[in-house]
Formats: sequence, structure tokens, C-alpha cells
Amino acid sequence: MHQIENKALEPLSVAEIQNELRRELCPESLDGRIGCQIELHDEIGSTNDRAKELALQGCAHGTVVLAERQNGGRGRFGRVFHSPAGSGVYLSCVLRPRLPADRAVMLTCMAAVAVARVVGEVAAVQAEIKWVNDVYISGRKVCGILCEAGMDFESGQLGYVVAGIGVNVGSMEFPDELKDIATSISNECGVQLGRNGFVAALLRQLNRLYSALEQGDFGFMEEYRARSNVLGRDVEVLCGCERYHATAIAIDDEGSLIVRDMDGRERTLHSGEISLKLKKA
Ligand code: BTN
Repeated sequence: MHQIENKALEPLSVAEIQNELRRELCPESLDGRIGCQIELHDEIGSTNDRAKELALQGCAHGTVVLAERQNGGRGRFGRVFHSPAGSGVYLSCVLRPRLPADRAVMLTCMAAVAVARVVGEVAAVQAEIKWVNDVYISGRKVCGILCEAGMDFESGQLGYVVAGIGVNVGSMEFPDELKDIATSISNECGVQLGRNGFVAALLRQLNRLYSALEQGDFGFMEEYRARSNVLGRDVEVLCGCERYHATAIAIDDEGSLIVRDMDGRERTLHSGEISLKLKKA
């Protein structure tokens, strides 16, 4: 277990994060890496919005926007993402992948695997992934991921992707509506964790996974499946206006979820089209 505990009250620090990140690199240059530029805000609406602005202005691949607190943190389907100061990590990475637009969801899967690995590293607890973009510990959500993309219509390739990651790291009190469904890593492992070490570890994992992905190595999808907490489970699918019960049977290499509905029909669910709820026992 990495020694990043007892630093709960430390403010986020770009220097600390980048120094930590450099330690592993040879040569120690962050050029071309995720985290090469980090813009840190005390308070912001949404780090994703700021990262999109920077992407459109032509910022470098790997630019990161990080905030102590968001007052307009967004989740999928326009939901609010609870983003209080002092304990969470809210960051958005600008990526410029050489991937066709229809494979964009793999970046969400990659980010989820990165977060799950870091949870294991820093807290020695097992993290699971709820298709497609949430990371869970002991049945409660600790992280949500929102990837937003701009497309190059000429090539059909992704112009840029903003990978927005929100993690409940330190000890946290949740509002009543979230108490039963959300938790933080510190709440689960009983140790107060520092956020700079967490961010550095996360950027390190993102860099590893992203380099592999750029070389056509999508091996992380195996880990994504292995960490899934929906495969083999009865689920309720919400897809547009349609709602039905089904069994989750597979996740394909593109990150689509394959379910079998109550009529025995297999259906493939693509990211962004559905919301999925674990059926209550
Ligand atoms: C979800 O739970 O549906 C996804 C939540 C994503 C939250 C992160 S926090 C950093 C980035 N900025 C945002 O406004 N959203 C993402």
C-alpha cells in the first residue's frame, strides 16, 4: 500500500503532483504525457467545460484541469456531480487519441480501469466497475467518469476527448440523497488519504494505459470485464423511454454491454444510450 495517508488537509499542488509523476520517468520530462500541463482552480463550474475550452483553443494532448471544488460538476444525462472542497478529486484530461469516433467509449473504460487500479494501490481495497463509467467499493459509488468528445468530420476520427474523472478520495459526509449510494475511498479503507499522491498515481496509470491503447493494445478491456459488477447479474435497463429487465451477459471489446432480455433476446447497449440500475434484491 502506498504511503499517501494522513495528508487529508493538504491543498492540491501542481508542483507536488508533477514532481511525483516525474520520479518514475526516464528522462524526467512530462512532454507528451497526461499531466504535462496542469491548470489548478480553487473553484470552477466544471473542469470538463474548462478542458473543452482549452481543447478548442488547441492545447497540448495531456493537458489537465484540476479543481478543489466544482459548483457545476456534471455527470452523465445532465445529473449533478457532488463536488465539495477538501476531499474530492475533480479532474479533466484533454486527450487527442488516434481512434475512430465509434471507439470513444474505450477511453471511459480505460479511465475506469485506471481509477480502480489506483484504489487497489493506495487503499488495498478491491474496486469494481459498474458499466460503463462508475467505480464502486463495497456496493457504493466512489467515482464517476464523464468523457466528452469533439469529432473531426473529415476523417471520422476523434478531434479531442475530455476525460472527466470525479473521485471521492478523503473522508466525506454525503447529503441524505447520496448516503446510501455513495462513499469515499477513505471512508471504506479507514485511512485518511492525501489527494496529491492520489492524483499522481492516477495520472501514472492513465499514462500507462493510454500509451498501450495508442499502440493498439486494448488488453485493459479484460481487466474492465474482470472488475465488472454487472456481468451475470439481473439488471434494469433504461434506454430512452424504454425500460426492461434483463441479464447482463457480456461486455464486448468496444465497451458495449450485451444483455439478454426476458424474451431471451440479446441486445447490445452502446454507451450513452442507457442508464442501468442494479435490480433491488
Ligand atoms: C457520472 O457520475 O455520471 C459522471 C461524473 C463525472 C464527474 C467528473 S468531476 C470532473 C469532471 N467535471 C465534471 O463536471 N464532471 C466530471
